[in-house]
Amino acid sequence: MKLPALPRRYHAASIWFVYAAGLAPAAWGFYLGATGQLIGNPVKIFEHLLGEWALRFLILTLMISPIRDIFGINWIRYRRALGLLAFWYVLMHFLAYMVLDKRLAMDVIFEDITKRWFITIGMAGFLALIPLALTSNRWSIRKLGPKWTRLHRLIYPIAAAGALHYCLSVKVIGPEQMIYAALVVILVGWRFARPSFLEWKRDNRAAAR
Ligand code: HEM
Repeated sequence: MKLPALPRRYHAASIWFVYAAGLAPAAWGFYLGATGQLIGNPVKIFEHLLGEWALRFLILTLMISPIRDIFGINWIRYRRALGLLAFWYVLMHFLAYMVLDKRLAMDVIFEDITKRWFITIGMAGFLALIPLALTSNRWSIRKLGPKWTRLHRLIYPIAAAGALHYCLSVKVIGPEQMIYAALVVILVGWRFARPSFLEWKRDNRAAAR
């Protein structure tokens, strides 16, 4: 089955749509919080919402390549938007933690980052995302050449750090954490299995000719 291709003239608009739709959960969460509609602990709820969407966008970014390899659907044009959305969500999650949750108490934040393992791991993921976000432009791709591809492979350990951070942030690992962790394990596994799969696909195509 082949999906109908989106006409070229809509490509740019569709990418902007991904950015707008991707930022909508943060805007909605912020609106609910600002209007007192997040019941319970609004700061925690907002912080969690941002963290979860960060992980979702990391996973979606990693899914683009296997979707193309396995189903032949080319959504590569959305990958940069999805990766940048992941970065913006991690940044907002970090700022929500620093400003709203810890009220910029730097000593507490420093202690958290250095002593609480799940926060140390989250911080490592965040720091590693910065060079990827900074080099996610055509100029850097041209300038860095093959180094760019190597640098951007960091997205795999970053997603693994995000999933681990999520699992370690809870007392008991539940189905939600398991699903995210399993998706990340499968996608990282795909990265290693990909060359053999592509070779197998090539051989099959050649045999069919
Ligand atoms: C790749 C980067 C990161 C990802 C993908 C991520 C994702 C997440 C997710 C999914 C959660 C759980 C949300 C829920 O329970 O629904 C979470 C919780 C949390 N994260 Fe992150 N995070 C990242 C980086 C950070 C950083 C840099 C910090 C702070 C330095 C941080 C601090 C926290 C805190 C304090 C919690 C909540 C723990 C609680 O329940 O009190 N995270 N994060």
